Amino acid sequence: MSKDFQISRGYALQLDSQDKLASYRDQFIIDDPNLIYLDGNSLGRLPKVAIERAKQIVENEWGKDLIRGWNKGWWEAPSRVGDKIGQLIGAAAGQVLVNDTVSINLFKLATSALTLQPDKKRIITDTFNFPSDLYILQGIKQNLGNQHEIISIGSKDNDITPNLAELESSINENTALVTLSHVVFKSGYLYDMQRITELVHRKGALVLWDLSHSVGSVPVKLDECNADLAIGCTYKYLNGGPGAPAFLYVNKKIQDKLSSPIWGWWGQKNPFDFDLKYEPAAGAQRFLVGTQPMISLLTMEAALEPTLQAGMDSLRKKSILMTDYASFLTQSLLALFDFSLGSPVDSAQRGSHISIRHREGYRINRALIEEMNVIPDFREPDNIRLGFAPLYTSFADVWEGFDRIKRVMEEKRYEKYPKQKLMVT
Ligand SMILES: Cc1ncc(COP(=O)(O)O)c(C=O)c1O
Repeated sequence: MSKDFQISRGYALQLDSQDKLASYRDQFIIDDPNLIYLDGNSLGRLPKVAIERAKQIVENEWGKDLIRGWNKGWWEAPSRVGDKIGQLIGAAAGQVLVNDTVSINLFKLATSALTLQPDKKRIITDTFNFPSDLYILQGIKQNLGNQHEIISIGSKDNDITPNLAELESSINENTALVTLSHVVFKSGYLYDMQRITELVHRKGALVLWDLSHSVGSVPVKLDECNADLAIGCTYKYLNGGPGAPAFLYVNKKIQDKLSSPIWGWWGQKNPFDFDLKYEPAAGAQRFLVGTQPMISLLTMEAALEPTLQAGMDSLRKKSILMTDYASFLTQSLLALFDFSLGSPVDSAQRGSHISIRHREGYRINRALIEEMNVIPDFREPDNIRLGFAPLYTSFADVWEGFDRIKRVMEEKRYEKYPKQKLMVT
C-alpha cells in the first residue's frame, strides 16, 4: 500500500468498511455529523437507549411509582448496576457498587486501607495520577494526623511513561497502599495491572486502581490480577452522562476486614430497623453512605448496553487500531508542524486516547473547537488530548480530525487566540 494512499481519506474509509463495530455508531445521538468529537474519554456521547430509559424513569418510576420505586429496583440499583460494570472489569458479582463520585470513593477506600494497617506509613502514587486523586490522598494524610508519607513516582521520559524501576524500589515493608491510575489521564500510559499488583503484594501492601480511563476501553481483569481495590467513573467510555455516579470495587477476600470512614445508613446492616447504633452491612455494601441519584444511576444503567453488547475484546481491538492510526497520522500528516507524540508508541502500553504535544497546544486546541468543529481537550503544559471511543468514533472521524489540525497549522489559525486560558480546557 502506498504511503499516499495511507494518508488519504480513502484509507480511513477502507478501515471503516472493515470495522465490525461500525454499526454501533447508529446507537448514539450524532446531532451534527460534521462535528469531530474526540473527547469521549472525558464525556461519552449520548446513547439513544438512555433517552427512552430516562423518559421512563422520570414519567413512570418517579411520576407514577413515587416512593414505591424503592421496592421496585431502586434500592438494589447500586449493586445490580455494579455487577454489570463488574462484567467489564473482570469482577465477579458482589464486589462492585455504583455510588458517589470517583473522588469520594477514593477517599473511602484509601482511608479504609490505611486504617486497616496502622503500623505502615507509606502511600505510593505517581505524578501521572489525576490531581483530584492526589488531593484526596493529601487530605487523608492530614485527617489521619500527618503520620504518613506520600511518595509520588516521577517519569522516565518527559511525562509519557512512569519510572517503573523507581516504583518497584519504593515499595517496601512500610508501604500500606499503592494507588495508581490504570490508564493515566495525559499520556494514556497503561500500567500492567498484573505485574504491579504482584509487586505490591510481595511487600504485603494493598493496591487501589483508578479505572476511570480504562473501563469501557481496555479489558480489565481485577479478580484474575487479585487486585484489592478499585474505583472508576461512568461518564467517559461508559457514556453514563455528565456527573453519572461512579463505582468502587472491593475484592471479596478483604471486604469484611475493611471499615468505611463514613458510616451512613445505606452502609448499615439493617437500615430499615432504624437502629440508633451503626453496624456495618456485610461485604462491600458498607461503603455505601446515603441516597443515590436514581435518575442518573438508572439512566447510566441503560447506557451500558452498547458496551456490554460489543464486549471488551472487540472494543480493545478497534481502540488499538485507532490509536495506532492516530499515531501514524501525527507522524505523517502533521510531520511538518513540530508536533510530538505524548503517548507510548507501543499499543500494549496505551489506553484509548493519545496526546499530541505542541508548544502552541492550547491555542491550537482553541482554534479546533471554535472554528474547525473538532472537540479534543487540552491538558497542561502542551498536550492536545485526542480520545477515540471505539463504539462511535469512525476512522473517517480520526482522519478528518487530523486534516483539520493540519489546516489550523497551515493557515496559522491559532495565532489569533490569546494565550490566556479559559476556565475549562
Ligand atoms: C482518572 C480520574 N480520576 C478521578 C477523577 C475525578 O472524578 P470525580 O469528579 O467523579 O470525582 C477523574 C475525572 O475526570 C479522572 O479522570
